[in-house]
Amino acid sequence: MSYKFIDLFAGIGGFRTGFEKNECKCVFSSEIDEHAGEMYQANYNETVFKDITTINEKEIPNHDVLLAGFPCQPFSIAGEKKGFNDTRGTLFFDIERILKEKKPKAIVLENVKHFKSHDNGNTLKVVLNALNKLGYTTNWKVLNAKDFGVPQNRERTIIIGSLNGIKFDFNSLKTKQVISIKDILEEDNGQIEYLDKNEYTLIENPKKQPSGLIFVGYRNKKIRTKGTRPDTIHLSRVHKQPNRIYSSEGTHPTLSSQESAGRYFVYHNGKVRKLTLKECYRLMGFKDDFKLLGSKAKLYNRIGNSIVIPMVEEIAKEVKKQILNKTDEVVKCKKSMQQMSLFDFENEKNKLVG
Ligand SMILES: C[S@@+](CC[C@H](N)C(=O)[O-])C[C@H]1O[C@@H](n2cnc3c(N)ncnc32)[C@H](O)[C@@H]1O
Repeated sequence: MSYKFIDLFAGIGGFRTGFEKNECKCVFSSEIDEHAGEMYQANYNETVFKDITTINEKEIPNHDVLLAGFPCQPFSIAGEKKGFNDTRGTLFFDIERILKEKKPKAIVLENVKHFKSHDNGNTLKVVLNALNKLGYTTNWKVLNAKDFGVPQNRERTIIIGSLNGIKFDFNSLKTKQVISIKDILEEDNGQIEYLDKNEYTLIENPKKQPSGLIFVGYRNKKIRTKGTRPDTIHLSRVHKQPNRIYSSEGTHPTLSSQESAGRYFVYHNGKVRKLTLKECYRLMGFKDDFKLLGSKAKLYNRIGNSIVIPMVEEIAKEVKKQILNKTDEVVKCKKSMQQMSLFDFENEKNKLVG
């Protein structure tokens, strides 16, 4: 069964690809960023609608699933204290008004890991309350991309809601064995940027963290905190993120939408090299034939903003199984019960009349 979805805050279509791989069909996309829109057009042959705040919800096509990796904004605490959730003026409000009008069977929302603790937990509470008021049964969990077959330690809050009373079971998501950076590296085609030995320092006895990261050294730049004791120089936290070097035997830290210079350095085969753009896109699960348009800086911004495709694929599979197919079964069952009783009624009537 093919289900329809809408792709809000679409970026470069990470959500879209994951659902399309599960035979779902995109019927509407919205993305305000010009460059993201151009990439979306080039890769999916579809023009995005721009600013969602200017789009009338009645004009959005009917759909089964609403997908949105929406920006995290605080809600009014004053409103919450007075017993109402004031979401007006935020982009979540636009999701709410679309849900109210269109009533899709399922919703999948994505946000940063700290969404759950943002504004002392108020933001998540307001979102869940608003969804519950619209009739959605919700569940949420922080998922890590590294558990879905890409070597990136990227944690994201995922909220899933259903209109049919089903609480999504996150434990049914199938996780994969963690792979390492070296598994996604390109062959050295002469284009790889290496650092000179005098540009970095390797630490002694690097250790693998539970996240899979192996911090092995740092670029010889200013360290983070003034007055840091010399015996803490081996700790990753005293170095700014773009100066940290990780082993290709482990996972990679979260790619960031703020890192437009692509300063991601890995230690591989005894040398320190920068990740290529293609490798960054691979770290988010994009295939090599994904069209990359525009400046390198913009391409780094786009990829740091995206959602990891293999994680979405697994979510989409389970949303179909747990929510969409079940909703269809209930509807079919109700219909056949109605037909049955009509049949019985006609039978009884014929008996009486006859
Ligand atoms: C976290 S990113 C989501 C990326 C997407 N999930 C992907 O896989 O590429 C949020 C996106 O929302 C877009 N955005 C922000 N405000 C918007 C608005 N008013 N209307 C439409 N898109 C908006 C941003 O440009 C950004 O690309």
